[in-house]
Amino acid sequence: MCGIVGYVGKTDATDFLLQGLYRLEYRGYDSAGISLMRDDGLLERRRSVGRISNLESLVRSSPVQSRIGIGHTRWATHGGATVANAHPHYGGHSEHGGLSDLALVHNGVIENYQELKHELLMEGYSFQSETDTEVISHLLHQAICKNRLSGTFEEGSPVSHADALRQVLVRLRGTYGVVVMFHGKPDFLLAAKCGSPLVIGVGQGEQFIASDPAPLYGRTDKVITLVDHQIAIITSRTIQVIQRDTGTVQPSIQVLSQGEDSHSCDGHAHYMHKEIYQQPEAIRNALRGRLDRDNATAKLGGLNLTASQMRNIERLVLTGCGTSWHSALIGEYMIEQIARMPVEVEYASELRYRNPPVDKQTLVFGITQSGETADTLAALREMQRKGHPSLAICNNIGSSIAREADGGIYLHAGPEIGVASTKAFTSQVVVLGLLALYFGRMRHLSFEAGLGWIDALEGLADQVEIALETENQIKELAWELKDATNVLYLGRNYLFPAALEGALKLKEISYIHAEGYPAAEMKHGPIALVDEHTPSVFLISKGLVYDKIMSNLQEVKARGGPVIAVTDSMDSQLEKLADRVILVPSVAEPLQPIVSIVPLQLLAYHIALLRGCDVDKPRNLAKSVTVE
Ligand code: AGP
Repeated sequence: MCGIVGYVGKTDATDFLLQGLYRLEYRGYDSAGISLMRDDGLLERRRSVGRISNLESLVRSSPVQSRIGIGHTRWATHGGATVANAHPHYGGHSEHGGLSDLALVHNGVIENYQELKHELLMEGYSFQSETDTEVISHLLHQAICKNRLSGTFEEGSPVSHADALRQVLVRLRGTYGVVVMFHGKPDFLLAAKCGSPLVIGVGQGEQFIASDPAPLYGRTDKVITLVDHQIAIITSRTIQVIQRDTGTVQPSIQVLSQGEDSHSCDGHAHYMHKEIYQQPEAIRNALRGRLDRDNATAKLGGLNLTASQMRNIERLVLTGCGTSWHSALIGEYMIEQIARMPVEVEYASELRYRNPPVDKQTLVFGITQSGETADTLAALREMQRKGHPSLAICNNIGSSIAREADGGIYLHAGPEIGVASTKAFTSQVVVLGLLALYFGRMRHLSFEAGLGWIDALEGLADQVEIALETENQIKELAWELKDATNVLYLGRNYLFPAALEGALKLKEISYIHAEGYPAAEMKHGPIALVDEHTPSVFLISKGLVYDKIMSNLQEVKARGGPVIAVTDSMDSQLEKLADRVILVPSVAEPLQPIVSIVPLQLLAYHIALLRGCDVDKPRNLAKSVTVE
């Protein structure tokens, strides 16, 4: 996924573009660039690989005063992380004297770019990059030239430029969020959206464009969210939105909740550390106003299905990616145990193509922090196409999935900036717990059992605060594990998905290979991996399968494997067998993953620090994967 910014208005564009890119850096950080316009109307470009700070140094060393500009931070899809592939990309043709007739930035993937590129090459266009984006730039230049020749292009008219862009966009297959500026046209920008988000910040004599609201904080609280197949003509004082098939539309302006500025670390060294510590508050926010003691159930306002419709639901499908798929697994166990409803968990990237037989009484939930994950969006669209109500459990208000779903439940966890998901994961599990209560009380769950579940949910945040107190112990453990090359995370029942999540945290920010596994499955092969260099982290709770997992721990110990136990109860056997014991509070078994994951989040964080990794922006990753 990439980040886009744009500015047109009364002040110099550079500061907003750079600050905006810093705030979008979590969306991708292979390379970055901005384009500005000189007083003589010529377009200038500054591009660099790596972090935005590299770009800022370049821009500050050769500044361009300009009241219009666009910028981009890249997560490479086509072509490596090089300056040549960095956006903005110019559109132009040497034969038409086009040094740089236009500059364009793009977020998304154009699936038919090869055939379009071939057509342009045949027409004499040359390419300076390997990107799909450059195809859009040259196609737009080509369309403008053709419209000029046919006499349908009015030189100074923004609408003529928008019409040429429309002609290009209808030829693209795939997803895009694009912003374009034109040589010698200092008064307007064009923006267009299909599949990759774009918002327009409405200012006083200035307008701001961004991939999400993050860059707008402190600039404006009024925002227009473009929807698919819309083009916007943006000047310093006006915003005209054109729906591809119906013409000009009146856009609605939403007001951003300014709230706390989520783009500061508030004294923490990293966003990830801040967000790990925000989990108690996030859990309280997820529960706020949703626990109904009078009826011993959950109040979930956004499901948009009547009680009788919900009563007729016989089966759930939970779908998501990465960490969101892990929370879905915990949701499966919860809902099946508490509501006695069959639940299927599907990787969204599989569900969208697997075409499973799904009966009419099935309700689908897409689980997503960002609300922009391409596979999850596509899976929901596929299930909607088949007529299944498809809801979202989502953190990002106003995101594509939140808008397209038939309803849903917001996490209210606040913006999660660190690429490694933490507070969103625990909040997702809490929301799934509310869903289990809701469905359970529609079926067999007694009033008394419902109250017990409400008590367990209400007490959770305080228990997570206690789990955070393990950090000093974890720092010591991180020293011991920082040079490991492979770590196993083992759990059973509810703690098996937590083991998967703990392994993912370590992999994605420390680059150490780690594998989550059902503890009982080790003896069916993976135990061959165990030796004195392969630590195993066991997640243990004094529950249904305690004795079984202690046997699994002994099997690993007997083969010389170092054992770390994250457990909610200590006993002499564990004290004797485990090399390290991290004690966490004991909570209702279905909620234990939320407490037991905290030391694993901190462990991944501290190991990554000791290894000199970039905790908030790990290599090769982006916060939300809006490409397939
Ligand atoms: C989580 O730590 C990862 N960054 C990643 O697996 C993430 O959970 C996944 O890409 C899904 O993102 P979403 O929840 O925003 O849809």
